[in-house]
Amino acid sequence: MKYGHFDDKAREYVIETPKTPLPWINYLGSDDFFTLISNTAGGYAFYKDARLRRLTRYRYNNNPLDQEGFRLYVREEEKAKENKNNKPLIWNPSWQPVKTELDSYSCRHGMGYSIFEGQKNGIKVSQTMFVPVSENALLYHVKIKNTTKEKKSIQLFSFIEFCLWDANDDATNFQRNYSIGEVEVHGSAIYHKTEYRERRDHYSVFWCSRKVDGFDTDMDIFNGPYGSASCPDAVIEGKCRNSVAHGWRPCASHQLNIDLKANEETTVTFGLGYIRNKADEKFVALDQINRQKAEEMMARYDSDAKVEKAFKELRKHWDELLSHLQIKSSDEKLDRMVNIWNQYQCMVTFNMSRSASYFESGMGRGMGFRDSCQDLLGFVHIIPSRARERILDIAATQFVDGSAYHQYQPLTKRGNLAVGSGFNDDPLWLIAGTDAYIRETGDFTILDEMVPFDNDESLAQPLMEHLRRSFNYTVTHLGPHKLPLIGRADWNDCLNLNCFSEHPGESFQTTGPSEGPVAESIFIAGMFVKYGKAYEAICRKLNLTDEADNCATHIKAMEEAVLKAGWDGEWFLRAYDAFSKPVGSHNNEEAQIFIEPQGMCVMAEIGKETGEAEKALNSVHKLLETKYGVTLNYPPFRRYHLELGEISSYPPGVKENAGIFCHNNPWITVAETVLGHADRAWELYRKICPAYIEEISEIHRTEPYVYSQMIAGNASPRFGEAKNSWLTGTSAWTFLSISQAILGLVPDYDGLKLCPCIPSWMDGYSAKRLFRGTELNIKVERANGNEKGLWVNGEKQKANIIPASKESKAEVLLRI
Ligand code: GLC
Ligand code: GLC
Repeated sequence: MKYGHFDDKAREYVIETPKTPLPWINYLGSDDFFTLISNTAGGYAFYKDARLRRLTRYRYNNNPLDQEGFRLYVREEEKAKENKNNKPLIWNPSWQPVKTELDSYSCRHGMGYSIFEGQKNGIKVSQTMFVPVSENALLYHVKIKNTTKEKKSIQLFSFIEFCLWDANDDATNFQRNYSIGEVEVHGSAIYHKTEYRERRDHYSVFWCSRKVDGFDTDMDIFNGPYGSASCPDAVIEGKCRNSVAHGWRPCASHQLNIDLKANEETTVTFGLGYIRNKADEKFVALDQINRQKAEEMMARYDSDAKVEKAFKELRKHWDELLSHLQIKSSDEKLDRMVNIWNQYQCMVTFNMSRSASYFESGMGRGMGFRDSCQDLLGFVHIIPSRARERILDIAATQFVDGSAYHQYQPLTKRGNLAVGSGFNDDPLWLIAGTDAYIRETGDFTILDEMVPFDNDESLAQPLMEHLRRSFNYTVTHLGPHKLPLIGRADWNDCLNLNCFSEHPGESFQTTGPSEGPVAESIFIAGMFVKYGKAYEAICRKLNLTDEADNCATHIKAMEEAVLKAGWDGEWFLRAYDAFSKPVGSHNNEEAQIFIEPQGMCVMAEIGKETGEAEKALNSVHKLLETKYGVTLNYPPFRRYHLELGEISSYPPGVKENAGIFCHNNPWITVAETVLGHADRAWELYRKICPAYIEEISEIHRTEPYVYSQMIAGNASPRFGEAKNSWLTGTSAWTFLSISQAILGLVPDYDGLKLCPCIPSWMDGYSAKRLFRGTELNIKVERANGNEKGLWVNGEKQKANIIPASKESKAEVLLRI
């Protein structure tokens, strides 16, 4: 069953009922100011960091769901006379939280904006929400139309609830928080200034473009004692109390009394802004904050024309971002994913890493080291300059010995001490991300950038030295089988071979020693071969021949170690535990086979010539694949294994325990193309691809326009149900699998390589690719008896690589 439809021309997903299986959300904002917004206008806003600078409050795990958001209430008194119970008609254009049945409803989630349209009793309200490019504010442009032939009087109330900045503290430290809330009200602008008097240099402002007929800033007064967002006293009575918060729970509501003639439409803009002031410019008088910057901000949007212009600029911004790759094939679902939604999700994961979604509270982990490095693979072609910046930020959290902080806070860019380091795959992802950046841009100068270790400037070294230490970290941390030591965990955070967590509440990842001298990972071995080769290639490009030769020796030794000690007969082993017992072997009772080493080792081409790669993928197909995707391991764990950790803590069929952990599915897709299995690769791509499973939204439940981290596997009674949508490495990896492995547009150091591995039903496709400043108009077709090869501007090329050039345009034909 579907709950909406794709509108590809507008680049929107149109939700037709507010009653989706779960809140279906969108992300607004592209620089520093962000908003999560659901299809009923639930959500919250923050500046840079969802934990440390949260502007509005959100209660995860609330009951009912998704109560806090960017609310508008419409109230019609006239109705009271008709109603027997004498109650005014009250409704929200986006349905929640009052949940009055609407005469019509839609929510259009687009690129960086969401438009809600609700109609009731002849009044139509549309609410366009967006964050203008480079602005620290969320705008709602609201149109209210009387569609009837009679005059109407209505009231419109806005409502948001302020968060006292640090979301974690806000949700726990009530003995202090109930006493510190402060606001100032000036005309139609409500300023939230809690803690601004002392150490903060920032406040927020919630304004309205019209003169208000009342306001409230104290939530208990607005709602009334024991009142709630679904029936606030002020709205029921049609009268705000002009309350000025003093402690308790500061909020902001504007009351507008609006008369509309027959068919008349009127507009109003609301804005929520974030303002910073210099320490000596914070106040204009005792108790009077300096409002200058806020007033300038409001002036930027004080007419419909200005707001509409900002909206157009946002659309242009997205046109530009998405123009770097656009394809045309005979399959509209494929085009929609590649051209719109997959790239859009890649931008969101770039901005958020794994910090803030409807499943990630924004208070836990900040930016993940490995996560952000992988996200790069999906957005580097969109904004290479920001990829560059991100690589340098990430590298600055690396330790001198090549290991790395596992996470860092986006606001401070400092490594997160609580989790620390010891995830032994992390260093190699830095090579993966940097390599992708160089291939996209040809910019080797990034390697000369001086980058601190552990954020300590005095320890700065060129980025190249960081990569070298990443490579050497694996070389110097090998175990008894000459395979890489796993540390706290590798890519699978839940395979904790050195932790032995026995007591509830202990962290699975950080209990026990950060290093064990025995437990080894075949997954990291595969990674070392794959990204070690990338590092070797970079060395050769820099004419570091000795170093490159030395790398090749280590890589070869690793391949041998994998084929000798990491092969189980029909598939690659997963690991050796702390007692040197194999994990992921046919000899184990549970979890005999794992997906990760099959994907990574085959991508690294280990056993490609000698047949192991082929066998491994056959085993994946036979033992792990289901109709909704490939599960992580088989059989699932049914017992808790102290020596394996969190993976065996999950019920069978979910998350890392035999769930379809979508992130690693595209590894198998890519691996199939390494062996030239085009139809198999396509089949795997399609299985978890949102546009192809829109029809089963009722089962899948999360948004049909983005990937989720996990789909329940066949061992779960909820087989097919997805969780943790949006913030997942699935996005970057599926983008890589489709654009590079299947369609075959592969950035390389000297140009764009074309090596499609397209399914047999596909005759070819065309693409527009902006590569290093050149717009490439690419046509790929089957040779059908004609001469095969690559032509650039009519000239036949020696190899299938479009050389980087200074031309602004080139016509490319590839016949396969
Ligand atoms: C989560 C983490 C990621 C990890 C994966 C598998 O998605 O963000 O870092 O690799 O889980 O455990
Ligand atoms: C949990 C999740 C996993 C995530 C890890 C680290 O183990 O299952 O996906 O990577 O936490 O935060």
